[in-house]
Amino acid sequence: MERRPRRNRRTAITRGFLQETVVQTSNLVQPFFLVDGKKIKDEVKSMPGNYRMSVDHALLEMESCLKLGVRSFILFPAVADKFKDKFATYSIDEANFYLKAFETFKSKFGDDVCLITDVAMDPYSSDGHDGLVQGDTILNDASLPILGEMALAQARAGADIIGPSDMMDGRVGYIRETLDDNGFEDVGIMSYTAKYASAFYGPFRDALDSAPKKGDKKTYQMDPANKREALLEAELDYMEGADYMMVKPALPYLDIIHILKENFNIPIAAYNVSGECSMLTAACQNGWLDYNKAMPEMLTSIKRAGADVIISYFAKSFAELKQKGIVE
Ligand code: PBG
Repeated sequence: MERRPRRNRRTAITRGFLQETVVQTSNLVQPFFLVDGKKIKDEVKSMPGNYRMSVDHALLEMESCLKLGVRSFILFPAVADKFKDKFATYSIDEANFYLKAFETFKSKFGDDVCLITDVAMDPYSSDGHDGLVQGDTILNDASLPILGEMALAQARAGADIIGPSDMMDGRVGYIRETLDDNGFEDVGIMSYTAKYASAFYGPFRDALDSAPKKGDKKTYQMDPANKREALLEAELDYMEGADYMMVKPALPYLDIIHILKENFNIPIAAYNVSGECSMLTAACQNGWLDYNKAMPEMLTSIKRAGADVIISYFAKSFAELKQKGIVE
């Protein structure tokens, strides 16, 4: 045999030469579920180890993430039913605890943290949809001003990056223009470019109690069978001014991450979503998988596929393993 690939794998040192992908803590974004109130730390049943937190707890948690080098956070609100309505008006309410949370975090940490928002109507909507509902239809253009105002309120509250997760057509351009018109040209947009109508969001909807009251999200989120459609969404987001393009979920869509990375020269983000986190956690709790190995392998595969930024419920935990020297 002239070619023996195993020769290069014989020792740890030469295996080090071969290593193509290394996940760094700086690649990771930690999601937080926020609730109104004080001293609340309420575990999400379908996501062991993840909590709905009031801002006081979230501050402590943020501090402990910062010590480990996790400095980016994506924040989601769990809103009480009494504040939900058809037009998601609470999303821009001055009393909205979610907006206040950005102010609190930013006044404490400034640019030591990067804070990403969620723009979509579902956490605030009595219909549980990402856009405005009329009968059985999710209205596109009528949703844009609502999403634009939501993004503007978040920028005013101090957010670094706006995260439209709603999948309405034209919303990236609409939000960009709204931000620019109001002097927020330095606030970025991380667009959920290829967001699939996936079953893997189940635990997240438990966490926020945000499941659609009627129907599903297939008229705006993408069919899991499609790849070319992701390229179309990416072209539009690129033209509309997105700073990052996200693929969501991550693991079942590594090919999508790859194709966006190959075709566009802006950073690619991947969202390792709630269901991916829950399935790994469940298998590990059963003793079926070795967490310290399987979890980093999962994140490595997402980076190898082409993600520059990885949003993962395991961000902090990964940083801990790294600090302890359990992962390289
Ligand atoms: C809301 C939103 C969802 C997620 C992020 N933003 C759920 C949905 O579209 O139903 C899912 C995140 C996760 O599952 O971790 N628009």
